[in-house]
Amino acid sequence: MANKEKIVFTGNKIDVTWDGGLCIHIAECGRAKGELFIGGRKPWCQPDLVEDADTINVVERCPSGALTYTLKDQSAEEKPEPDNTITVSYNGPYFVRGDLKIESISADLGGVNYRAALCRCGLSKNKPFCDNSHEDGNFKDYGAVGDTGAGLENTGGQLKIKPLTDGPLLISGNLTMHNGSGRVAWTGDQAALCRCGASKNKPFCDGSHTAAGFKSDD
Ligand code: FES
Repeated sequence: MANKEKIVFTGNKIDVTWDGGLCIHIAECGRAKGELFIGGRKPWCQPDLVEDADTINVVERCPSGALTYTLKDQSAEEKPEPDNTITVSYNGPYFVRGDLKIESISADLGGVNYRAALCRCGLSKNKPFCDNSHEDGNFKDYGAVGDTGAGLENTGGQLKIKPLTDGPLLISGNLTMHNGSGRVAWTGDQAALCRCGASKNKPFCDGSHTAAGFKSDD
């Protein structure tokens, strides 16, 4: 089960929140230079040791949305990146960034309005989010993308993500997709992405979820 613990690290001007239900330990925070996050220190995150701009910069690197920040004077808040992007990661989840609207999820997951790691192996116990079950499940897909998409006339705007019951992720909105090695592979505004792990046309759904007996449980 996902760790549902949530911890708020309070600073004089800015608070940082860590959501254990979303964290998949990519370690962008722990590996960042500076004193904000130091593994083994208590508390692990100390916002008063760095400039607020540095806190914001490091928190916004978090690819799962597990880290968020709140400025106490409300002088700034996170803004979506100008382009909506999905990276089909090597043997792992979809890393999504942009102006995200993920349907049917709890309202208190603020970070995933901008950044999310979505399961594409079908094994997560925290769907639609990745919980690293792809590792134990030995999920293998290197993130190749064969189609190029219909192209885009515009970029940005809201990206709607609808996890269909026992089916794919329906995507609607301007999107640029990167393959597992970072290439811009696909652009378009409509897609059905495999989240059962069984499609033979990954990352796109080919209907294999039915024969695979995929249960989304979300
Ligand atoms: S892709 Fe990570 S748990 Fe499915």
